[in-house]
Amino acid sequence: MSKDYTPPKPMPRAEKVSILTHIKLFQKDIFASQPAKLYRAWMAEYRLPFYKSYFINDPKLVDHVLNKDPDNFPKSEIIKGALYSLLGDSVFVTNGEVWKRQRRIIDPAFEGGRLRDIFPYMLDAGNAAVARLQPIADGRTVEIEAQASQIAADIIFRTLFSIPITDDIAKQVFEKFRDYQRSQPLLNIASFLKIPKWIPKFQGRRTTQTSTDIRALLIRLTENRFAEIQAGTAPDDLATKIMTTKDPVTGATFTASEMVDQVAIFFLAGHETSASALAWTLYLLAVDQDTQARVVDEVSALDDFSFSNLSKLTFTRNVFREALRLYPPVPMMIRETLQTEEFRDREIKVGSQIVLSPWHIQRHERLWDKPDVFDPDRWNTDETRKCARKAYMPFSSGQRVCPGAGFAMIEGVLMIAMLVRAFKLEPSGKPPVPVAHLTVRAKDGILLKLTKRLSDTKSTQTL
Ligand code: HEM
Repeated sequence: MSKDYTPPKPMPRAEKVSILTHIKLFQKDIFASQPAKLYRAWMAEYRLPFYKSYFINDPKLVDHVLNKDPDNFPKSEIIKGALYSLLGDSVFVTNGEVWKRQRRIIDPAFEGGRLRDIFPYMLDAGNAAVARLQPIADGRTVEIEAQASQIAADIIFRTLFSIPITDDIAKQVFEKFRDYQRSQPLLNIASFLKIPKWIPKFQGRRTTQTSTDIRALLIRLTENRFAEIQAGTAPDDLATKIMTTKDPVTGATFTASEMVDQVAIFFLAGHETSASALAWTLYLLAVDQDTQARVVDEVSALDDFSFSNLSKLTFTRNVFREALRLYPPVPMMIRETLQTEEFRDREIKVGSQIVLSPWHIQRHERLWDKPDVFDPDRWNTDETRKCARKAYMPFSSGQRVCPGAGFAMIEGVLMIAMLVRAFKLEPSGKPPVPVAHLTVRAKDGILLKLTKRLSDTKSTQTL
């Protein structure tokens, strides 16, 4: 593979199009509706019905919105509207004091020590994934996004509720979430268009029904756990930790219904994103055999996959970082202005939508050297580290930074290591085309060929 391998990138739209064409393209795929100049621009203004929307790529503006003055740029109401039937008042969609209280209870569950405690659950999921893939790793073509989804869902169930994906309720939740996504591709025009409150909004009957079904299952899981906590028999996992943590300010814990909202977002945010990241990383490794060989060498030098050994996988971590740069699972984030702002000498009215795009910033031509090239070694240079401080945000930044970032970095590196150690990966069929669904996905999936690397079914736990 040449040193300058450029993996798939969506075709941009023509520079000048009518509003109607823009909206039509938007509806099909957000990436395809953006012009190439957005990879060079610091800011772009879009006039949409009822309000204006601003894409901001200028690192100073991004810093202002996410870090310096985040309370004046709350999550946009349209996100809440689009997700309410499933997520209720979960931490992903709330703002202000409600959101602050929720984060005070949730954040301790994801601290370093807790991640060490839940690491064995991730290892079990990795071993289960290797065992599940063994029978089909004979050179046939496998759609790896679906496999990655299952792996990430298994990890969430094991770490949150101490149950594997094969558990009856877990399996049902997983399958219903898949239906939900099919019935509501979230990052579509509905989630970007702010429609005035007086216009009635309709959600497909199938979407509403699927949300109701998912929530019924999550209520069962949560109620069972409350009973186990009361009986003193609850396992020491993330759900127990979150449900027993008191807000240090008010002393109150989550109510049962608040907890159901949080479980819904942990499942959605925690499995869709990780699945996208894992699938794209495996694709990049399949295409770039030299890089794959270096990962195999690094992993083979470990004695085992213990928590402390994971820090030795520096190259594997750089591969994952680079994959998150090129294919950030959350491609864009939306905020709303609470007051009049001045951005790059332009007045931004109250109620404008501010779009922050990890996808564009992390491939920005005026910020990154060879922005579209897959080069994990760039992460060893001071230049990249300096650039990353202002233009790398796969987990967002500031007070609303992803609480699962540490979790996701451990999970991602561990899964890559275990899978690449067990299987040789090769691309199959046409290169995937990235599209923005709920997360960055491939239009027709990601096809890879897997073949067993280890001659026997030796556990990957002891190498
Ligand atoms: C590679 C994996 C992941 C990526 C790239 C990712 C990315 C992000 C991003 C960009 C946001 C901010 C969204 C916004 O502000 O609009 C976010 C928020 C969030 N993520 Fe993650 N995430 C990942 C994994 C996880 C995991 C594993 C969990 C939990 C187990 C999680 C839970 C959450 C929650 C609860 C929020 C909402 C936080 C808030 O609004 O205060 N994420 N994530």
